[in-house]
Amino acid sequence: METNRLSQRMNQALNAQVTLEAFSAQVYLMLSSWADDAKLDGISAFLIKHSQEERVHMAKIMEYIQERGGKVTIEAIPKPSPEPTNTKECFEMVLQQEIENSEAIYRLVDLSMSERDWATFNFLQWLVAEQREEEKLALTLLDKVNLAGGKDASHASIYELNKDIGETGQEFPTADEENPLL
Ligand code: FEO
Repeated sequence: METNRLSQRMNQALNAQVTLEAFSAQVYLMLSSWADDAKLDGISAFLIKHSQEERVHMAKIMEYIQERGGKVTIEAIPKPSPEPTNTKECFEMVLQQEIENSEAIYRLVDLSMSERDWATFNFLQWLVAEQREEEKLALTLLDKVNLAGGKDASHASIYELNKDIGETGQEFPTADEENPLL
């Protein structure tokens, strides 16, 4: 008896999203490392916490594939693009990553509709809502960077920005705070 409730195409597409979420986590790690090197400790902490959120997305999709009787295949994660050269570029990369992730999820929603796979459609609504929040956060942060002077921001405004972004609330603490995922 066939126990996989996902079509082969849907299983593959969800699996590709697992890899994309892992890639997103790598992008945030790369940006966090860049920020640390630039002595932007608040921004670095924010980005590393966000990397954890991406890994949670990845794990949730894996769990869903398995719950439906599908098979997760772990693939290689592509290398992120080169590091940014300033704070504005860093947060433009954040927004770009989130937009690309949203577009990939919308394609999954399209596929679930075309296959009348309503269980997957329903599951994906959580990710659609999550992406809406993530795009909103990325846009807000980019607005703050631009208000602070963008790529020409003074040292004083970068100092304040770093503090402000470091205090931005997120679901996950850094590694030196208590973290159940580490
Ligand atoms: Fe998993 Fe930031 O999207």
